Parts: sequence; C-alpha cells; structure tokens
Amino acid sequence: MIEARPLGLSPKAFFGIRFACGCRILLSRFCIFVSMVTAKRFFTLEGIDGSGKTTQIDMLVAALEAEGYSVVKLREPGGAKISEGVRALLLDPAFKGVMGDKTELLLYNAARAQVIHEIIQPALDAGKVVIADRFAWSTYAYQGYARGLGADMVQRLTEITCGGCFPELTVVLDIDVQRGRARTAKRGEAPDRLEQEKADFFERVRQGYLAAAREYPDCVSAIDADRAPEAVFADLLQLVKSRL
Ligand code: TMP
Repeated sequence: MIEARPLGLSPKAFFGIRFACGCRILLSRFCIFVSMVTAKRFFTLEGIDGSGKTTQIDMLVAALEAEGYSVVKLREPGGAKISEGVRALLLDPAFKGVMGDKTELLLYNAARAQVIHEIIQPALDAGKVVIADRFAWSTYAYQGYARGLGADMVQRLTEITCGGCFPELTVVLDIDVQRGRARTAKRGEAPDRLEQEKADFFERVRQGYLAAAREYPDCVSAIDADRAPEAVFADLLQLVKSRL
C-alpha cells in the first residue's frame, strides 16, 4: 500500500486534493501548496500490458483526425530521440536485478521531461490534440504502487517533471492480469525488463491504476478492456469527446 502522510487530514481528504486536476496540491513532505494545472487537449491511455492500448490509441487518432483535429501521438517512455534512448536503458533485460528502483523512477521522469520539452508542450501550444500511450499515471502505478516507492516520491518528481503539462484526462484500460498476459504471450516477442516481472507485480500495478481512478475521478477514468475493441472504443471516444 502507498503510505499517505495526511498531516492531520483523513487519508481520503488528503488524497482527494492530491494529484487533482486543476486543483491545489498538497506536497505533504514540505507542507506547501503548488498548482498542478492540467493541459487541455492532452489525453493519455494507461493499462497493464495486453490491455489493448495500442489498438485503442490508433482508433482514437483516426476518429479525431476524421473530425478535423490535428493529433500528435506518442508513447512513453519515448516519443523523442533522447527519450527513446532512455527507454532502451529502462527496458533492457540485461539490467534486470541491476537497476535500482529510484534509478528507474528518475529515468522515467527524465524521458518524460524531454518529450514534454520537445514534443508535447509545443504541440499543445500549437492547439493540437496530444495522445500519449502511458504518462505519469504509469509512474504512479508501477513505481509508486508496484515498486512500493510511494505516492509522495512519485508526486514530488511529477510536479518537477510535468509542471503545468499534466493530462486533462487519462483513461485506464482495465483488464485481469492473467487475461492481459495471455494476450501479450500471443505476440511471441521476447519480454523486456519490466515484462519479466511476476504476476503479483502486475496485480499491484492494476490496483494502483484502480486506486487512481477511485481517488482522482476528475482526471482518471477506468473502463473495462476485456470486451470487443469496438465496445471499448465507444466508451473511450465518449470520454475523450466530453473533454474536447
Ligand atoms: P510499453 O511501452 O511496452 O508499455 O513499455 C513501457 C514499460 O515501462 C511498461 O512495462 C510500463 C513501464 N513504465 C513504468 O514502469 N513507469 C512509467 O512511468 C512508464 C511511462 C512506463
């Protein structure tokens, strides 16, 4: 479990104001308030491997472009040359058991800082729609929840990395861990460093995502991804369009 430091508030009240879109955020360690302003037209998809993110993002981009939107699509970690370089380090199976959890956390944030600087912020400034395959809620679920580094650490870094460039809406494609793994196994690709983790790690990731959707409903929505792609997409499109 992620440990909250409520500083006199109930955990629910505390989490309710943390990470909240467009709201004041309490950085518990220093007890100061900062703004986490969300960026309009910035959407991210999240989920464990095998949840169908790639398919859904492709469908979403096609649908929005057909309506005349100019869309920038990217994956995280990645999306810019430096960030892709960091991705290669992060996912290299040779570093299994070698890379420290904090190193991992910092590298994900480094990759993100660059793609924000080079791609996301300029695209948003130009009025484009940005759709990212993973973003900061991955860090919350994987490093904060599954690695056990905690929400505090993740949040402090997210504030530094993202500043005002935080997605307006994140859709979590929720699927049972075994079902997701069965889908990825069909691809027949060698697992990367993260994919080599055991099922209980992904169970914690999933719980992290579901907790995010529960605690931050204004900016995180979870939908059932264990359905036909068209049915999942209908929900996704409706959610995105409600924010455009
Ligand atoms: P993917 O692009 O194939 O999903 O690979 C990215 C991997 O990195 C995936 O296992 C999730 C993981 N990840 C984190 O652990 N933290 C993060 O902040 C991000 C963006 C991804």
